[in-house]
Amino acid sequence: MLANKHILLIVGGGIAAFKSLDLVRRLRERGARVTPVLTKAGAEFVTPLSLSALSASKLYQELFDLNDEAEMGHIELSRAADLIVVAPATADLMAKMAGGLANDLASTLLLATDKRVLIAPSMNVRMWEHPATQRNLATLQGDGILVVGPNEGDMACGEYGPGRMAEVPEIIAAIDIALSDGPLKGRHVLVTSGPTHEPIDPVRYIANRSSGAQGTAIASALLALGADVTFVTGPADVPPPMGVTVVKVQTAKEMLDAVLNAPAADAAIFAAAVADWHVANAAVSKIKKDGTGLPRLDFAQNPDILATVSQMTDGRPKLVVGFAAETDDVIANATAKRLRKQCDWIVANDVSPETGIMGGTENAVTLISEHGAESWPRIGKDAVAAKLAARIAEALV
Ligand code: CTP
Repeated sequence: MLANKHILLIVGGGIAAFKSLDLVRRLRERGARVTPVLTKAGAEFVTPLSLSALSASKLYQELFDLNDEAEMGHIELSRAADLIVVAPATADLMAKMAGGLANDLASTLLLATDKRVLIAPSMNVRMWEHPATQRNLATLQGDGILVVGPNEGDMACGEYGPGRMAEVPEIIAAIDIALSDGPLKGRHVLVTSGPTHEPIDPVRYIANRSSGAQGTAIASALLALGADVTFVTGPADVPPPMGVTVVKVQTAKEMLDAVLNAPAADAAIFAAAVADWHVANAAVSKIKKDGTGLPRLDFAQNPDILATVSQMTDGRPKLVVGFAAETDDVIANATAKRLRKQCDWIVANDVSPETGIMGGTENAVTLISEHGAESWPRIGKDAVAAKLAARIAEALV
């Protein structure tokens, strides 16, 4: 898959920079062409000569090098590659990217590019866990930057925890996905996932047991087929997949707004377990046990996001897929739900507690369309996702 692909590799200043030398070798073994860019800090860890010799390419280092600009300007350099890989991506480089700074060659290329960018973060565990880095990570993921790692383990600085750069085979696997020319290449798919939280007061909320595992697996499977994925997620247990554009929401109302504001999609998959009601009289201050009796909650209906999108007259995705979480008469209820909401497909599943499906790793679904009901065997949520993504790809051709 990497044959004839051109990768611009930005090597930042971290102890893991030595692994980037091996990365260059492995990428070239797979037929990729690598153009290296070494930051000033990166040059403290690996030599320009070793990077340019291993890549058999000219090495770029400074922003204002008149010779380089005459041969290939920095804008062109940022767009000539199929993919930009930043390995190691230091806390400093991530902060520059998140803030849109362009004060050296690497940050300028990253701001000027119109290509996908994959970063392999590497830093001390405290730096990784610092709220500033986590904020920057969320910003970058929201911008559609792909992230691989970091891994947990012993660090060069003697501490233990997440922060070690992903290993070379993991980075290559992520590059493979990023460059995949799958059947959904050029298609935009929207996925909703996770539960919603409906506030009772500033500290309490109503929620459900959805972990977000199935929606996350579907987003990953769509990504693996080459789709651009917008992932609108409530507060889920599992982290969003790497490489999607993440929009985090809390309530059903926020989820609807995020869905309606997302770029036009070819397909939309509604895997979120949206709360049906919100508390109409949610308190602005914490409700106290002040002796005046039990609090009274008034409920109001939430907007039905799936039905809203299914019934759009303008800009409706070609394929709209809903889920039906049922405990009784699964197929009959789900079939009626498809017609009521006017989506194209419904993926029905039995969420009775004894099935262990809600919050579990497996799922047994029935795909309901205008052609009838097709039951799939009980398989892992990842396998359900892969099968569904393949069907979506077939439906969009
Ligand atoms: N859904 C939605 N917005 C809502 C409620 C549900 O988009 N306010 C979507 C879910 O993401 C799912 C589908 O509708 O794809 C069905 O969800 P489900 O909870 O099974 O159905 P409900 O609409 O809640 O119907 P009921 O409560 O009658 O089972």
